[in-house]
Order: sequence, then structure tokens, then C-alpha cells
Amino acid sequence: MSKDRVTTATFRKYHAEGKKITMLTAYDYPMAKLVDAAGIDAILVGDSLGNVVLGYGSTIPVTMDDMVHHVKAVARGVQRAMVVADMPFLSYHVSREESLRNAGRLLQETGAQAVKMEGGREIAETVRAITGAGIPVMGHLGLTPQSIYQMGGYKVQGKDEEAARKLLEDARALEKAGAFSVVLECVPTPLAKLITESIGIPTIGIGAGPYCSGQVLVTQDMLGFYGQFSPKFVKRYANLHETIMQGLQSYRKEVESGAFPGPEHGFGMDEEVLKKLY
Ligand code: KIV
Repeated sequence: MSKDRVTTATFRKYHAEGKKITMLTAYDYPMAKLVDAAGIDAILVGDSLGNVVLGYGSTIPVTMDDMVHHVKAVARGVQRAMVVADMPFLSYHVSREESLRNAGRLLQETGAQAVKMEGGREIAETVRAITGAGIPVMGHLGLTPQSIYQMGGYKVQGKDEEAARKLLEDARALEKAGAFSVVLECVPTPLAKLITESIGIPTIGIGAGPYCSGQVLVTQDMLGFYGQFSPKFVKRYANLHETIMQGLQSYRKEVESGAFPGPEHGFGMDEEVLKKLY
């Protein structure tokens, strides 16, 4: 492992220094290379793969094999960032053994350095078993898309006292079980602040305000890859949809009109050779 590689120790160091941790998603080699070259600290191969790349309506259909395939491609493009692989739906609920085997597979077969798991106290023992096997675990609380049918939609979590207390206790349970950090998704800003101040591991926010120890977004969302709706918490740093559309439409028009390819895009050959063919 190169000495520049971001590890759980880097997370601890940044957290202690108050330096914000940056994380973005990637699902393939070219985007992973770009995100890594931009100096982002961690790359999450999220099961948002299902929505963003595979065209599913949710993360539920994403399988272990899908994750292994995409995490491998991402890991091949990364030199510095920590690669975090999402454990997909039901890959860590059936039994402790199966959870351990699946987490192990994500590290051993793909080149990821950590796994991410959704849930709080109900998965704490599984988190303990996985971290006990030397596999770093990033927790994920708040809006957990694998439970979307139970939650009844993509809504802000922890708004009433009971739900807020549960999130706080879940974060403490994950820390106690050995998680090295925890994603807080769609949590009110003051609650995310309280959780961040109440636990000893870094929080990574998405729709959780500025007081988290770091931030994560879906790269395609923040680069405006899809022209349509994106959630309130996403800031757009580019408009790739428009740039790509312009390029694609110009290509179509130029092929149709004969403007492309021009002489500079073709290859010549010896006139004598050509004559012999006629
Ligand atoms: O799957 C994912 O991309 C995620 C992030 C949104 C945190 O879990």
C-alpha cells in the first residue's frame, strides 16, 4: 500500500485536526480516476449504482455480484482515495457468517478498503463481527434507501424527539461496535451537529448540514449529469447534461451533413497501391 493512501488512520487524523473529509461516489474506472485525481479523500461505490447507472428505480435490486463488478473497476482507477464498497440489500442480514463472507468478498475480490452498511443498533453485532475480522465499516444512518419501503419514501429522518433519540443512540452503538465513521443522510442540521459532537468517530453528511466531519454526494448529481430533478441538498458544480447533449447533437448533425469526418480525421495511402485496386 502506498504511503499516500487514505486509510482509516487518515480519517482519524483529519477528524482530530478538524479537517473536513471529502467523499464522492463512483461506479466505474473513468469517473474513479477523475475523482481520485481531484484529491477527494474517499470514493464510495454506493448501491446508488442501482439508480444512477443500472437504471433501477431503487437500490433494492443491486446484488453482491453487481457490487463486486463495479467496485473492481473503481479500484483499478484509484491511487490515493479510500475505496468504500456498499454492502447491498440483504447481504448482511441473513446470518453473521454470510455477512462476514460478503464483507470479506468486497475487500478480497475488489481492492476496496472498507465497506458501508445501513442501520443502527439492529446491525451493531454484525458490525462488531466484521470489524473484528479486520474489515473497516462505515455506518449509514438517517435516510437509509435499502429500507425505503419501511420508511414510506425519501424523507428527512429524526425530526421528532423519539426518532432523533434513536438516531443518536444508533450512532453511539455503531461507534461502540467499531465503525470508523458514519454517514448521516437527510438528517436535520441541528441533530447532525449534536450527533457529530456526541460521538468520537467522523460523521459524513449528505443532506445533513455543514457541521458533519465531512460531506458526500452522488457525483452524477453534483455534476448535473441528469437534466431532471435532483434533491434539495445537492449543489450543482457543473452541467454535464447540457455539455454532453451539445456534443452528441453536434456529432449527429455533422455526420448527417457530411461535415464529419473531415480530411484531417482520415488516413491516406500510397497512390500506386490504390491504382492497382481499380
Ligand atoms: O449509495 C450511495 O450512494 C449512498 C450515498 C448516497 C451515501 O449511500
